[in-house]
Order: sequence, then structure tokens, then C-alpha cells
Amino acid sequence: MPKELIRLVDCTMAFDGEIVLNAINLTIHDKEFLTLLGPSGCGKTTTLRLIGGFETPTSGGIFFDGARINDVPPHKRRVNTVFQKYALFPHLNVFENVAFGLRIAKIPDGGGKKSRLPEGEIEERVQGALELVGLKGYHRRRVHQLSGGQQQRVAIARAIVNRPQVLLLDEPLGALDLKLRKEMQHELKEIQRQVGITFVYVTHDQEEALTMSDTVVVMNHGNIQQIGTPVDIYNEPVNAFVADFIGESNIIQGVMHKDYSVSFAGRLFECVDSGFDPNQPVDVVVRPEDVRMTPPDGGQLRGTVNSVTFKGVFYEIFIDVGEIEWMVHSTSAPKIGDEVGLLLTPEDIHVMDRPDLFPEGAEALTLEDVDPEPEFEDGGGDGEDGEEA
Ligand SMILES: Nc1ncnc2c1ncn2[C@@H]1O[C@H](COP(=O)(O)OP(=O)(O)OP(=O)(O)O)[C@@H](O)[C@H]1O
Ligand SMILES: [Mg+2]
Repeated sequence: MPKELIRLVDCTMAFDGEIVLNAINLTIHDKEFLTLLGPSGCGKTTTLRLIGGFETPTSGGIFFDGARINDVPPHKRRVNTVFQKYALFPHLNVFENVAFGLRIAKIPDGGGKKSRLPEGEIEERVQGALELVGLKGYHRRRVHQLSGGQQQRVAIARAIVNRPQVLLLDEPLGALDLKLRKEMQHELKEIQRQVGITFVYVTHDQEEALTMSDTVVVMNHGNIQQIGTPVDIYNEPVNAFVADFIGESNIIQGVMHKDYSVSFAGRLFECVDSGFDPNQPVDVVVRPEDVRMTPPDGGQLRGTVNSVTFKGVFYEIFIDVGEIEWMVHSTSAPKIGDEVGLLLTPEDIHVMDRPDLFPEGAEALTLEDVDPEPEFEDGGGDGEDGEEA
């Protein structure tokens, strides 16, 4: 692992006495692509603004290369930011938009004074940055003569041209359509590899986070839920919130009887988990793609198909098993009303500690019960940070 670059230590941020970041701890390494992922209002932008120096934490420390930088202003941090709205200068052409930061920068000239960058070097750096983002030959264009994707590239060129050590990107692809967004995801990742700088990336799109990042930080309500590689986060979510946010999941309440033995949905299942207390209440998470449909008596569970939707590359099927509705992803489509069996192997069953937010003694949770969306919409999803497109 490369060396540590940024560290947030017990960082709390409160606005008008209301805590929006709750003592978060986070380490960011040199050249890492780290993504803050979470629902609207969970504190992603606030975390980025703390790192960028646009906010000072209410308590806790921010360290850069080991030095505390709580009171260092933004322009003195080796950090640049790309926002969702690119804020290019409409009266300047592409070249001048990218060159802007270089023209105002003053560099030490060795003799104790500061001077401007020579024009030749500005030219070289701007052309280099434009080439990197695939805009070679576009330097004379006006901003209004560019597509949304091209404007986004100009914004990125402008942010990397003065060679920051860290680039902060706040939903930079949010305004682009899906196809362009996918292309740019790939290109951004490529740019990051080529220039070898640290990216701290914000998104609420789990697929984007999983495909682009070295490290994903899942946040909820101002708390970090889990930090890990995309594979870890997907395969070993630490709780039902992460499991549900990171991919669709069946989340069922169960009881861990003893090591490797869990009961849920009225049956005892073999599993691969151990280390829980005897008879500890747990959440059982099963991915929809891991549930196999069989003839009615071919699985451990038996249910009735209540909906089938084609999703492009698979069918999403809901099956009623007693009180619980199971979601299954399959390449074959049963008919509504069909009786089917559901087969789970021990590896498909993920047993997790149950956080306190679930009601005691409830028999089963449906996806609706754990769907966090409505809460967040009330809490903070009203676009108050002005970044919604
Ligand atoms: N300057 C501010 N004054 C008061 N409250 C603020 C301020 N900035 C952010 N908040 C609050 O802090 C919480 C976290 O906001 P933040 O912008 O960090 O969320 P986010 O995760 O970036 O959400 P989104 O995905 O909608 O951009 C929200 O409840 C928001 O209302
Ligand atoms: Mg935000």
C-alpha cells in the first residue's frame, strides 16, 4: 500500500448545532482512487469540503502528509476540486479556461521572489492537459461550442493542469447521460492512472463507485458504515444497510443457533458463518443472483411467483414465500402464479450483526422495511447544497 497522504481523525461537523458528520476517521493513501458513497444528505460533500479546506471541522483533525491542516486555507492545500457544475468561464476559450489557474499562480524564482510562469511553459502544460482529456485541437473553441461531456473534460483539464497532489471530484459526471457517463468513468480512471494523483470521488451511484474505485467508503447519516475494496464491500457488507445500498438484496431476520447453523424463513440452514453468540438475532442477506429457482420441491423454500420484469440482461422475479417476498435474478422467466422452489447453498447465505434500527421480535423484514430512501429524503435530500442539476 502506498504511503498515507490524508487522515481525518474524529472529524465532527455541525451546522447550527446539528451534527452532519459524526466523528469520522478516514485514511487516504497516495495515488488511491477513493470514493465516498452514500445516499443524499449523508455528508459526502461536507467531507470533501473539509478536505478541500472550504469548511473547518467543529472538532477533530485533518492531516496532510502528517501535518495538521485544519487552518490551512484552500489555495495553500495541494488539492483541487471538480464540482458537478463545472463553472467554466464563458467569455474565455478552452485554452484560457485551462490556463487560468497557471496564469494567476506565482512560483518561487529561487531568489526569494515570486514570478509568473513563463508563457512557453503555460502553453506546454495546457496542451498536455488537453491531450490527456482527449481534447487535443479544441483549444480555440468557445465553451458554448462544446457538448456537456467536452465541458466536463475541460473542467478536469483545468483541475489537473497545476498538478495537485489530490483531486476532489464531487459527482463530476452527474449531469451527463448514461452512455457518456460510462465512457467518462473509464476515461477518468485512465487519467488518474496516467497522472498518478490521488482521487477522492463522490457519488451516490453504487455501480460507479464499484467500477472506478480502489477503496469505497460507504456513508449513512454522517457516519462511515464500511471502508473496503469494491469486492469486499460487495461480498462482505458489514450490515444490512451496506448490503442493501450496494446491491439489491434479500434481507431477512434470523437467529444464529450455533456456528454454521442459522434459521430464517421458518427453516434451519447450513451457512459458512461462525463466531456469533448462541441464538443471537441476526440479519441474513442473500443476493438475488444467488437464489436458484428449482421445481417446487427442489429447494429448501417453496413459493409463488408474483411478478416478472425483464431488466435487459436478466429477469427480476418476485416470489412470495409465506410472509416474505424474495427477489430473484435469473436468465429464465417463470410465469406469474407458478409454484417454484428456491435453493440456497451455504455460501449464498451471509449472516450479519443486526444493528439496533430494526424492530425487536419482528418475524421478517421486506425490502420496503429496510429501504432507507424515505428517511433521507426527509432528512437532507432537499438539494440545499445547490448541486442538484
Ligand atoms: N452550509 C450548511 N449549513 C447547514 N447545513 C448544511 C450545510 N451544508 C450541508 N448541510 C447539511 O449537512 C448534511 C450533509 O450534507 P452534504 O451536502 O454533505 O450531503 P451529501 O452527502 O453531499 O448529499 P447529496 O448527495 O445530496 O449531495 C445535510 O443534511 C445538509 O443539509
Ligand atoms: Mg453532495
